[in-house]
Amino acid sequence: MAKKFQNYIDGRWIDSKSGRTFENRNPANWDEVIGTFPLSTKEDVNEAVKAAKKAFDSWRLVPAPKRGDVMRKVGDILTARKEEIARQMTREMGKVVLETRGDVQEGIDTAYYASSEGRRLFGHTVPSELPNKFNMAIRVPIGVAAIITPWNFPMAIPTWKIFPALLCGNTVVFKAASDTPATATTLVEILLEAGVPPGVINIVHGGGTEVGIAMVEHPDVDLVSFTGSTSVGKKISEIASKSLKRVSLELGGKNAQIVMDDANLDLALEGVLWGAFGTTGQRCTATSRLIVHEKVYDKFVPMVAGSAKKLRLGDGLKDNTDVGPCINEKQRETVDEYVKIGVREGAKLLTGGKAASGDGLSKGWFYELTILGDVTRTMRVAREEIFGPVLSVIKVKTLEEAIDVCNDTMYGLSSSVYTQNINNAYQAIRDIKAGITYINSPTIGAEAHMPFGGVKETGNGHREGGWTVYDFFTEWKTVYVDYSGKLQRAQIDNVEK
Ligand code: UN1
Repeated sequence: MAKKFQNYIDGRWIDSKSGRTFENRNPANWDEVIGTFPLSTKEDVNEAVKAAKKAFDSWRLVPAPKRGDVMRKVGDILTARKEEIARQMTREMGKVVLETRGDVQEGIDTAYYASSEGRRLFGHTVPSELPNKFNMAIRVPIGVAAIITPWNFPMAIPTWKIFPALLCGNTVVFKAASDTPATATTLVEILLEAGVPPGVINIVHGGGTEVGIAMVEHPDVDLVSFTGSTSVGKKISEIASKSLKRVSLELGGKNAQIVMDDANLDLALEGVLWGAFGTTGQRCTATSRLIVHEKVYDKFVPMVAGSAKKLRLGDGLKDNTDVGPCINEKQRETVDEYVKIGVREGAKLLTGGKAASGDGLSKGWFYELTILGDVTRTMRVAREEIFGPVLSVIKVKTLEEAIDVCNDTMYGLSSSVYTQNINNAYQAIRDIKAGITYINSPTIGAEAHMPFGGVKETGNGHREGGWTVYDFFTEWKTVYVDYSGKLQRAQIDNVEK
């Protein structure tokens, strides 16, 4: 019998009122059922929001350093359970255990950062223009946060949002992607064990259209933090705008690695393999385009194709696996469609190009690591997010052209430049339109204490990570204390008559 999971609402583990459930299976072996989960409805969301609203009254008054103590315990528990959670995550979504360990580590880093932020949450004190008056701006919690997260970082991304939300004194209703509800449940269990009170954290499992939309529409939800596709992000933004609630969106990417003629090609090779095929290419930050200087194109591109061929697909729990499966059947179909579109548009298939077969691959959503050469910037494979193990290679003549191609996309999350020339590097830093630029390292690998997010249709201007995410989860309150004992009028009593 598959394990039966529940929602956690108002301090109780319960089924959906609908009585319906859905199944979650291992993408590397679809015979293996991870568990059954409640297929929740708007009614369940209403209960969760009600509980979160009530819990906000007391949680907002807990001193931030105390909330920080809870976060430290969360970090300690995650550390103690790192290996077990990583293995569960690999079974649930397929990426190799080396990477799922990294995913848990990102949660640990985020927990300790949040813990220390409990003793900062800095505001400002500013001189007043009037005598005997004190001015300050302080951070205050906002209310109920709806947290909606994807499956590619089942631990890290929820922690990026939930830990700062809670540390700031907000309460949370959480919906994880229906491909990774087990890891999300583990996170909630850990928060409870560390001392997060009932009602402060709630999880409602189910689909985006039913549960996610109900969360965004709910009048008592004050802020929404979402990571996922640009099309869903736009829909969320539209709904949320009706009530003017605050929304943070981390959306798609079409990230490029530029390789200049002066690059260290061995280093650039390692970088592009990791950037393009890590997490099976299923990262918002994945390297989806490789932009190569014409002088090294004929040497470098065969190096990439040759090495990609040697990477081993398989079950991420096995030691000899380099790359896991796509998340599900639909995603693998999308990947295959894009490869066909690319070939039809005139791209040259250098390696891969079809669903993978062979030993240990027959019951998983595996797709061959695919490289398309001779891609031009107008092809769909150079413009649209694929979210799979497909790399499109584009040839350029100069750094200016490389940057221009890199910027020729509706997205702007991550970017990377391999060059040994410091002038090239700084020109790229200045001119690439992206939230993140790496010099001599791949497009993936953001650190938890640095701002994370993108420009253009990758987001709506907010940043996760580091100190910046605390701006999203707090409201500024401006305070004036007049201790002069008389009426003092700003802009009037302090100017010469
Ligand atoms: C994502 O792809 O949505 O920088 C997040 C990275 C990871 C996070 C990626 N630390 O690739």
